Amino acid sequence: MKKKVHKIGVLTSGGDSPGMNACIRAAVRTALYHGLEVFGIMRGYSGMVENDIFKMESRSVANIIQRGGTILKTSRCKDFFTPEGRKVAYNNLKKHGIDGLVIIGGDGSFRGAQIFSNEFDIPCVGLPGTIDKDIAGTDFTIGFDTAVNTAVEAIDKIRDTMDAHDRLFVIEVMGRDAGYIALHSGIATGAENILIPERKTDMNEIIDQLAEKERRKKLVNLIVVAEGDDFGGANEVAKAIKEKLPQTEARVCILGHIQRGGSPSCFDRLIASRMGYSAVECLIEGRHNVFVGIVNNRMSYIPLNEAVKKKQRISEEWMKIVKILAS
Ligand code: F6P
Repeated sequence: MKKKVHKIGVLTSGGDSPGMNACIRAAVRTALYHGLEVFGIMRGYSGMVENDIFKMESRSVANIIQRGGTILKTSRCKDFFTPEGRKVAYNNLKKHGIDGLVIIGGDGSFRGAQIFSNEFDIPCVGLPGTIDKDIAGTDFTIGFDTAVNTAVEAIDKIRDTMDAHDRLFVIEVMGRDAGYIALHSGIATGAENILIPERKTDMNEIIDQLAEKERRKKLVNLIVVAEGDDFGGANEVAKAIKEKLPQTEARVCILGHIQRGGSPSCFDRLIASRMGYSAVECLIEGRHNVFVGIVNNRMSYIPLNEAVKKKQRISEEWMKIVKILAS
């Protein structure tokens, strides 16, 4: 028989993502609906370690569903990855009587939650909040849809000027370890090449393709590269192209953190609301130490211990589509 949960803590951890606020709102209001007490924990695990914890009411989450970032703020907390740090965090939670946690974040945050839940008797539920979409066990992560649409909007604008000048553009999007933003925004904007960390980049092949296109007078070319691509990002790619094809007018644009901010899309607000609600239901029903995702439009629950071992993979079909559509 699993212990009943009465007071829950909510935190956001790792890189922020649009929709985190909608998720906090859903978790807080679902908990209050069920008569639980709710506490906001500031700056992710840092707030647990530093006892920066406050009581939340329904109005604490008023007027936030449309806001990017996270009202609880976020961080990547090194102290929490030490046994001493986690002990301090546990004692702080106990001071408030918190007996359940909702953690909205990326894979690093779940590793923290997994270790913590194995050491202490406070059940944790993890929700995928990351623009990178690099978490297995869910078809969607909170923030990806908004981020990829921001990238698409920016790339479309660049394409106008690229086309007007017959130029080649190398556009770098976010994704230190994951190529999903590059892949989806690249396909959606008709990129000729998409370079991602999950695949080895063959620069010679790209240069041969560009040389052949130049012979056919096709000068407008769009290369979308994820920041974590093994060749080294947009500047490196453009440098290699200019070295081999000096007559090519290549320009670089690094989209950067604009991809992480902004008002969440309707889709992100919806999945965030659904996930925030489900996390609290899990804690109440005794489904503890799980990662909550959405698979085939149904809620999915994986033990945290398993979730941290898996990584979202890029499907071969997507890669085939990229090749065929760019030819
Ligand atoms: O949120 C994920 C991510 O956007 C990665 O794609 C990126 O490399 C990283 O965060 C950068 O985060 P920060 O600027 O906070 O170090």
